[in-house]
Amino acid sequence: MIKVENLVKKYGSITASNCLNCNFEKGKITVILGGSGSGKSTLLRQLTALEKPDSGSIYFDGVNITSMPKKKIYDLRKRMGMLFQGSALFNYLNIFENIAFPLREHTKIADSVIKTIVTMKLEMVGLRGTEHLMPSQLSGGMTKRVGLARAIVMDPEIIFYDEPTSGLDPISTGVIDKLIKDLNQALNITSVVVSHDIESCFRIADNIIILFYGDIIAQGTAQEIKNSDDLRVKQFINGEPEGPIPFTRTDKNYLDEILFD
Ligand SMILES: Nc1ncnc2c1ncn2[C@@H]1O[C@H](COP(=O)(O)OP(=O)(O)OP(=O)(O)O)[C@@H](O)[C@H]1O
Ligand SMILES: [Mg+2]
Repeated sequence: MIKVENLVKKYGSITASNCLNCNFEKGKITVILGGSGSGKSTLLRQLTALEKPDSGSIYFDGVNITSMPKKKIYDLRKRMGMLFQGSALFNYLNIFENIAFPLREHTKIADSVIKTIVTMKLEMVGLRGTEHLMPSQLSGGMTKRVGLARAIVMDPEIIFYDEPTSGLDPISTGVIDKLIKDLNQALNITSVVVSHDIESCFRIADNIIILFYGDIIAQGTAQEIKNSDDLRVKQFINGEPEGPIPFTRTDKNYLDEILFD
């Protein structure tokens, strides 16, 4: 569904995407895994055409989206659902209006039909009857599920998730993982999930891409990743403190500050 070729994105002296080549297969769940600052969100922003690469190509169903005019990108986005890091719900709108928002923005669907669609999507994420609640009244897991209901409200062909389980307890994480898998199957869509949760990744991924400071250091099925001989991959999936993955300069400064101040 998406083919990435020689993708480069730099911010000043930082190379966030260092000539990436990878595929996101139709109907499959691909998880982009990597430590903080490895370039996961940057890749996601380029895949969703929120940001342009410095060079390289991204083919969406065979069409290069890196050189697409704005109007076409706008149309393309209607085929995509997005669950942002932090869910990005509107605090001043209740759950119903949050989920209905894309329908009101992009379509002329009648109110009665919007009501049916929102109820159906809430049902799918297991939150029927919460329409009237405000975002501030929800738990972290519920917030993610509302974000998910909004992401699927326009019946997208592909959903992008940025850290869908970050900050959740293991049970809520399991619920979201199951939802991602179930929705992928039930709606017959393609899913791209950014995560640094290894267990969750192994539970849901058909394919895994591991980023390390802007480079892809491994890609393949869970089994292939588990069998990798790359020391960086081993360190990452085993969560070992010692190994070739260094602290970033910022992490090191931060640790010095909190430990020695
Ligand atoms: N808009 C920006 N301007 C400048 N630098 C940026 C920008 N976006 C990302 N970067 C830098 O690019 C690198 C990759 O960042 P990115 O947000 O893609 O990482 P990430 O893997 O999503 O990390 P995290 O797990 O912490 O969300 C980092 O060094 C970051 O500081
Ligand atoms: Mg990120």
